[in-house]
Amino acid sequence: MTGIYIHIPFCESKCVYCAFSSFVNREKENDYFSHLKKEIENTSKSIKDNVKKVDSIYFGGGTPSVVSSNKIKDILDCIKKNFVINEDCEITIEANPNSLDKQKLAEYKKMGINRLSIGIQSLYDEELNFLGRKHNRNMAIEAIKSGKNSGFENISVDLLIGIKGQTKNRFVCELNELISLGIKHFSCYMLQVEEGTKLYNIVKENEKEILDEDECVKIYEECVRTLEENGFVRYEISNFALKGYESRHNLKYWSGENYIGFGLSAHSYIDGTRFANSNNFEGYFAGEKSLCEKLSDSQRIEELIMLGLRCRLGVDNQKLKQLGYDLTQNEDFKNFVRDCVLIKEGEIIKLNPQYYGVSNFIITRLLP
Ligand SMILES: C[S@@+](CC[C@H](N)C(=O)[O-])C[C@H]1O[C@@H](n2cnc3c(N)ncnc32)[C@H](O)[C@@H]1O
Ligand code: SF4
Repeated sequence: MTGIYIHIPFCESKCVYCAFSSFVNREKENDYFSHLKKEIENTSKSIKDNVKKVDSIYFGGGTPSVVSSNKIKDILDCIKKNFVINEDCEITIEANPNSLDKQKLAEYKKMGINRLSIGIQSLYDEELNFLGRKHNRNMAIEAIKSGKNSGFENISVDLLIGIKGQTKNRFVCELNELISLGIKHFSCYMLQVEEGTKLYNIVKENEKEILDEDECVKIYEECVRTLEENGFVRYEISNFALKGYESRHNLKYWSGENYIGFGLSAHSYIDGTRFANSNNFEGYFAGEKSLCEKLSDSQRIEELIMLGLRCRLGVDNQKLKQLGYDLTQNEDFKNFVRDCVLIKEGEIIKLNPQYYGVSNFIITRLLP
């Protein structure tokens, strides 16, 4: 089934590390929501009926929780009118602790949103300050508690690894605290220094303003150990979930299923063709695409291997064979299976999670 992503490109402020398509200036907000609706209606008219069956909807950004919940409901209603929504559809909204309140949470719940993804990043005030976040530790904890009290049992949090001052012990304390608050899913990202961000200039001045790679790897390894000890499964390099709480939406990106992205800079993948919307408002309002590419069979093979081996789903060799490539005939394949680097379960081939850190090297050996 198809996944739908809706990009909400507005934020209250810009965090120092963020290169996402997000704007503090909200003067185009009303126009943007009108265009979103038009885009949803037009797209639904142009796609085949089987692509209209949807079992995951994801409001991402930017920060979807900064806009009024009526606007989110309007978009959700529009999707429900133009697509066929599965009864148990996963509906996620990304939120910031500072823009979540009880009323919004109740309205999200009422409109059918059943998963919250909260950008916590850290539970230490000095780290949050450095990152340019608008929330502090207490607000982060309050947001999670309010989410739970409002009836959301499926709550995910985002954390960052690599912030100056962070240590293994401090990070483990944060994880334990969040686990005890009932968090079911963690996305733990290595802090990336993206060109064009404030962090890029800060680090150019002094590279010690963030942790070096070795320190990050140590914290990441401790993160994996702590979460696994607490029953979490690492189902992708940065993503951990209790059983049954893996993000259905994220899994679509890694398994080669169809997904449709609406809004600024949103990407879609439909039956082997990749599209991307313009990343500026003028282009988006004019319907411009920044990418429209039909993948060849060999590109689809590469994509299935690259995405599949980086997550717990693995690669379906049956799908590869249909595209003309049998992975089990690859010269390195047998050695990797013998050395338990790869795990073969029938037609499904998985990378042993111990080797996620060197997945790039292994994947290059397995490509046609
Ligand atoms: C669109 S934001 C999530 C929602 C919300 N805007 C927020 O920040 O809380 C998605 C996530 O990407 C991660 N992220 C953003 N920029 C990053 C960077 N430079 N390096 C690593 N992770 C980053 C953050 O953890 C963030 O929570
Ligand atoms: S990290 Fe989130 S809140 Fe911060 S600027 Fe990026 S999208 Fe906005």
